[in-house]
Parts: sequence; C-alpha cells; structure tokens
Amino acid sequence: MSIAMEIDPQKIDAIIERWDRDPSFVIEMMQDVQEAYRHLPRVALAQVSRATRTDMARLYHIATFYKAFSLEPRGVFSVQVCTGTACHVRGAARSLDGLARELGVAPGETTEDLTFTLEGVRCLGCCSLAPVVAVGPDLHGDLDSSKVRGLVKKYRKRAEKMEGGNA
Ligand code: FES
Repeated sequence: MSIAMEIDPQKIDAIIERWDRDPSFVIEMMQDVQEAYRHLPRVALAQVSRATRTDMARLYHIATFYKAFSLEPRGVFSVQVCTGTACHVRGAARSLDGLARELGVAPGETTEDLTFTLEGVRCLGCCSLAPVVAVGPDLHGDLDSSKVRGLVKKYRKRAEKMEGGNA
C-alpha cells in the first residue's frame, strides 16, 4: 500500500546542511530523514543524492541493507506480534489475526492514518510473558486476542494526544 505524505524540501535541506553536505555522512543524513518522516521518501533521497553527489543506487543499497530504514511510510507505533515458539503455542496467530482485523491491515502494512504498522516478529526475549506484543517501546505480555481491541484503543488515543500536542 502506498501512502502519500507531504515532504518539506527545506527540512531535508536543513538535515543535509547539518552534515555539511559531506558524502561520507549520507547514512547519518538518511537516519535523520527516517526519524523525521518515519521512512525515506524518494524525493528526500533524490535531494540527498544531488546535494552530496552520491548515486541514488548507493542510497537505495543502504536503504535496503539496514533494517532501521524503510522506503515505505511507517506508523507512529510499530505493533510487533511475537511469533516465536512460546508465543505461537500460546495463541500468537490469533492475536496477530485479531490485530490485523482491528487495524484493517495485513502484517507488514501500515494503517492509512499512519498510526500503526503491524508486523510479525521473532522471539522478543520475554517468553515467560507469552503471547507477547510490543507496541512502540512497550511490551505487553499475556496479550491474547480478547485484549486486542483495548490495546488498539489505548494507543489510538495516545496517538491522538501526540497529534494534538503537535498542532
Ligand atoms: S517466543 Fe515470544 S517472546 Fe519469546
């Protein structure tokens, strides 16, 4: 799914300037762009490419090599459903299905309002809490499908508050 987002060329330029237009800092520039837009918009990469005289192919290579970068817009909150063995045995697939239904997206996709990106991930390292779902930096243990709706509601409200704070 492709979601449009407004990109401010001046903001991108400020990022490039912060790193003195130095081609040896393209990764740092890309990190700043990723942080500002929660992905690497094509127009921003083109701007970095022009300003630093770095090939777009090289920037795309970096963008796809590092997991921290995304070429598609990501939600404010990443919702990571652990599909490791312990969580799988305790119903992770039902939690993932429930979240997909509640959010209206498939795993790997982002909601149209750019609030959530849903993902299935490997063991989150706290198997005794299975099934586990991470929302942003927060871990939620024993997250069976009956708790999905409440969880989404809670973070939707939090996103609205954040949005209100930015207005
Ligand atoms: S298997 Fe889910 S946290 Fe380890």
